[in-house]
Amino acid sequence: MARSYRCRVNHSTGQVGAEAPGRVLIGRDRIAARIAELGAAITADLEAEAAALRSRGEAPGPLVLVPVLTGALVFVADLIRHMPVTMSIKPVTLSSYPGTAKASVGVTVQSGVPTDVKGARVLIIDDILDSGQTLGLLRRMVQAQHPQSVRIAVLLNKHKNAGRVEEVAVEYAGFDIADEFVIGYGLDYDGRYRNLPDVMVLQGPPSA
Ligand code: IMP
Ligand code: MG
Repeated sequence: MARSYRCRVNHSTGQVGAEAPGRVLIGRDRIAARIAELGAAITADLEAEAAALRSRGEAPGPLVLVPVLTGALVFVADLIRHMPVTMSIKPVTLSSYPGTAKASVGVTVQSGVPTDVKGARVLIIDDILDSGQTLGLLRRMVQAQHPQSVRIAVLLNKHKNAGRVEEVAVEYAGFDIADEFVIGYGLDYDGRYRNLPDVMVLQGPPSA
């Protein structure tokens, strides 16, 4: 049985105490700098797309962000503040790693897949691209509604992943990481650690 586990994090220093859940893989400063770059790149691409559409006499569709909850919560909150454009946000809840699972067990749609993005310019946002099942499914569900365009942004990409089930093209990726289970900055293990300010590698399951 899993024992209760206290995560002692000093949120000023990012240092974890004796019961550390892991080691820092990507610190908050690197994350912040990269998200500023991503926000600027995405905004520039959206503006270029709008200009190209107008030059062909077409109106750019509304921008709809579709963050995948719960993992993308922190990422999207920071990213949108580097995107000074008009947008709406329609979160979707999908689940592929229930409880203490450390590998995907297949994707289930919990709620919120938007049904009204026809003609919209959609930006799907997730915390991490792992097996590819989540973003593969979501891209297909969005695409089926004939949006004007679809892009995907992920903070992390487990790029050399033996567990990759579906190759999903992501237009924007913050960091390529090794095939390790990570927590923090929105990512959880069994619902915990999402509030860690850094991305950390989970050092073994916290159950004895
Ligand atoms: P995929 O469908 O396997 O690509 O999984 C994507 C989802 O699984 C992500 O949205 C995460 O919520 C979760 N996930 C994948 N890898 C990790 C990890 O290393 N730590 C925490 N959650 C993960
Ligand atoms: Mg997720």
